[in-house]
Amino acid sequence: MIQQVLNKQLLQDVLDSMQAQVLAFGRDERRSLTGTPMDEIGSSERAELLDSIETAQEYAAAGERAAPDRRGGATDLTLADRNTYIPRSAELSNLQSAIEQYFLEKRPEVLESPRPNDRRGGSVPMAGSQLTIWQDYLAGRRLFGAFEQTDIGWINALFAKGIRKFRGKHEFVERPIRKDPIRLADEKVRMIIFGDWGSGIPRAQNLAKYIQRELRDPEVKDWQRYVVHLGDVYYSGWEYEYKNRFLNYWPVTLEEKDKIGSFSLNGNHDMYSGGWAYYDYALSDDRFAPWQGKSSLFHLANSYWQIFGLDTSHDDAGLKDDQTNWVRGAARKDLKTILLTHHQYCSSFEEPSRTLIDKIQPVLNEIDVAAWLWGHEHRCMTYKDVSRIRFPRCLGHGGVPVYQTHVPGASIPPPGEWEYRDYIDGGLEHWAKFGFAVLDFSREKIAVRYVDEDGGEDRKETIV
Ligand SMILES: [Fe+2]
Repeated sequence: MIQQVLNKQLLQDVLDSMQAQVLAFGRDERRSLTGTPMDEIGSSERAELLDSIETAQEYAAAGERAAPDRRGGATDLTLADRNTYIPRSAELSNLQSAIEQYFLEKRPEVLESPRPNDRRGGSVPMAGSQLTIWQDYLAGRRLFGAFEQTDIGWINALFAKGIRKFRGKHEFVERPIRKDPIRLADEKVRMIIFGDWGSGIPRAQNLAKYIQRELRDPEVKDWQRYVVHLGDVYYSGWEYEYKNRFLNYWPVTLEEKDKIGSFSLNGNHDMYSGGWAYYDYALSDDRFAPWQGKSSLFHLANSYWQIFGLDTSHDDAGLKDDQTNWVRGAARKDLKTILLTHHQYCSSFEEPSRTLIDKIQPVLNEIDVAAWLWGHEHRCMTYKDVSRIRFPRCLGHGGVPVYQTHVPGASIPPPGEWEYRDYIDGGLEHWAKFGFAVLDFSREKIAVRYVDEDGGEDRKETIV
């Protein structure tokens, strides 16, 4: 299961072996042949490979650069390091992808399925993206034997391929595929919004079932329906990851593709392999292509509301090119606005991006931004109004298993207002529940429900 894959110690051990192999190859190419694509990597790319390995080593050694938990205890990330390790590092994420892809393709015999009824993994045993090979490793039996050169050679080669893609990004498509906004009805519109869902673990698959329940509710069968993912398919947005973790479980089926609109924002993990599979594979899927197509931007509007999906990940935690001017030019002053992004505008637990805040400011000055919904932090939170945004909301609790370290009822640092703190009780382990938001549009009002992975409704509000 994903928790074990992400174990930081394993990554550090693999990195050390990769480094030793590249250095040995540099000393004596013939004696160091591995029989893998690693042997084909030339000396200049080997130097770059060594650089990337060192960058990853430094990142892992330093830990995440996140604000400490303000309650004065250990940081969230210390806990995360021991369990779910989702580093915001292109190098480490690509390493995770490379290790996983190698074992999926070349060593499937060592993969295990999650234990049935394991609430962390969910009750549906699935092969594929839920690797549990690492149980052996954690139990002290080295999975790789003595880290065989063949294993490490493949991982080195796949890692180099991922880094190559990351350095040569897919071009940014600077406007939505449609010149005019997608026309929303003024009422009877249901939009499901969720973020950071692309882990593929059974609990995330299960969440999609509850999203389907909302979409197929007989009450809304004649409504316009939309599903928006706020970005991040792990570990680094490779094609096999979109297939195994995202498209296979997307809550809209191919038969529903024309009736239910599908959108997915660009996240930092989508860009860690350069965004190639995000644009050319995920957005080219028949469910996304008619609605969003090959642009990370989209725009919908009715007589009361306008919604802009923006890209804060092509430039990581930034706002690539002139998106600000696009919104200013396309927005109507007489409509209320909802912004959707992967990254946060404000936070109680992390430093938001100065670049993003500065670049979006003209939009906030000129346009009535009623709500801004984002993901990225793997939690569900509402914030008090900031910079005239009346409903700033974080919905990053779609699919990454994290410990719930915040006690229900304990205070929330500003500008936070409410945090969803329910958890799955695994004895010593409290896993924060996943969830999504359901927005029902009715002229000038939007009724919002926050639904969790057990189908519970944990908060209701009205966005006006
Ligand atoms: Fe993210």
